[in-house]
Amino acid sequence: MLTKPDSLLAYINDATGLRLPDGHFIDGGFRAPRSGRSMQSEDPGRGEAFADFARGNADDVADAVENSRKAFALWRRTPPAERGRILARTAELIRRNSERLAITECLDSGKPISEARGDVSGAARTFEYYAGACDKLEGSTFPLPSDYVGYSQFEPVGVTAHIIPWNFPISTAARGMAPALAAGCTVVAKPAEQTPFTALLLAELLFEAGLPAGVCNVVTGTGIEVGAPLVSNTGIDHVTFTGSVTTGASVMRACAENVTRSVMELGGKSPVVVLDDCDFDGTVTNVAGAIFEHAGQICSAGSRLVIEAGIHDRFVEALGRKAKAISLGHGLRSPDMGPVNSAMQQEKIAGFLDRARERGAEFISGGKASSDPETGKGYFIEPTIVANRPAEDELVQEEIFGPVLTVQKADNYEHALQLANCTRFGLVAGVFTGNFTRAHQLARDIDAGQVYINEYFAGGIEVPFGGNKQSGFGREKGLEGLKSYCKVKSIAARIG
Ligand code: NAI
Ligand code: MG
Repeated sequence: MLTKPDSLLAYINDATGLRLPDGHFIDGGFRAPRSGRSMQSEDPGRGEAFADFARGNADDVADAVENSRKAFALWRRTPPAERGRILARTAELIRRNSERLAITECLDSGKPISEARGDVSGAARTFEYYAGACDKLEGSTFPLPSDYVGYSQFEPVGVTAHIIPWNFPISTAARGMAPALAAGCTVVAKPAEQTPFTALLLAELLFEAGLPAGVCNVVTGTGIEVGAPLVSNTGIDHVTFTGSVTTGASVMRACAENVTRSVMELGGKSPVVVLDDCDFDGTVTNVAGAIFEHAGQICSAGSRLVIEAGIHDRFVEALGRKAKAISLGHGLRSPDMGPVNSAMQQEKIAGFLDRARERGAEFISGGKASSDPETGKGYFIEPTIVANRPAEDELVQEEIFGPVLTVQKADNYEHALQLANCTRFGLVAGVFTGNFTRAHQLARDIDAGQVYINEYFAGGIEVPFGGNKQSGFGREKGLEGLKSYCKVKSIAARIG
């Protein structure tokens, strides 16, 4: 019933069929918030509230952390192979519940249903990947003199807190929870107040898959009322934070107080470097996808086009035509592009565009706030491309977090490299060229956590992800991501 197009659209006005939880997930079940208060989540495609959820506070956080601490004693001793079986069953359950999860994600975040389905299948794949890694966490031996023996082993870091943003709710939850659980850690997660539901549903599926009560808890509410007490709780051993640089810095200060470990996935202003000898049509499609997927609300969005002068005019014209052809609409109508996440985000992005207009910037496409053409509702921004801007311009330096691409024209290869590195961020970069040597020189010389060559967003859960410079530190995904949740213990013994 959930998959027929007609019934999909029915959810736009009535989400009750999704049976969304209105409590926290603590100790293996949904639990009412201690304060008795709730708050509402909006459907950004309509700009209206669509479901209530629990408004947590420090007491709920304390309950969740206490349960998580107790459960850690048990979970860390659960045989790795058994942990793997539970994570593999979770992957299976995510797949079995994929349409409910995707519709929930689409309504809660605004993203088109096709993208939401992709995120849900990616979450299943994440659990599958780490399920296989549980029993392969091998330590090493040290070459000591023959009357000694030395070896290392990985131990779980303990109780882990996960602060999740609203742009990729289920993906980010899975990306943190799966490796943490695989390593033998327990979890207290706080989803963003704009998108609380899929993390709760994920915790329920983990429990259904056989995860012991208390091993994975989710507390919903605001950053101040739930996030802040969570990251400063002395029962937390590690924090994984994904979000803005400003909030990340305040979380780091809280971690410093208790000397808590952390992984910081912060913002980006990632360059897409296009050289004259690229595959023209394929690159146009890639550059558009890099900025207009999820309306540009991706930390790794390709938000700056750094393009060589020889190809510049023809390329920007083709890109402008592509941007103008993009359809907007409510996510459940399967548009090319959905809304941005909130009125606040819409205002923030429109502010960047208004200021650019005042500075005399030329718009190749878009440039304004908009709404769903069918209903006149929702928080939309037109797919926007701004013509060549100088390196110091705000549109080049700041993370806009919307469907706004800023062009930077490069005189030659060296200039392109210099422009690619011209911001305080260093999350990812795209490189498009037919020249093998140039491609790898750029990959070597661009200061970023990862570089995509000739396909933006290339790679999957196998590939480590994380930032340099103010984009953060630590790595998620891949086996590197698993190590974020492990402590190395070295043991040396005299045997002779
Ligand atoms: P934010 O960084 O404040 O929120 C991210 C998460 O942190 C949410 O779950 C929030 O509840 C939580 N949080 C907020 N204050 C906290 C605190 N003091 N302690 C612990 N947790 C706290 O981002 P926000 O305000 O939603 O968006 C503002 C801007 O941040 C966006 O316009 C965008 O530029 C950027 N952003 C970047 C993301 C990325 O993936 N790089 C994701 C989300 C936002
Ligand atoms: Mg919402």
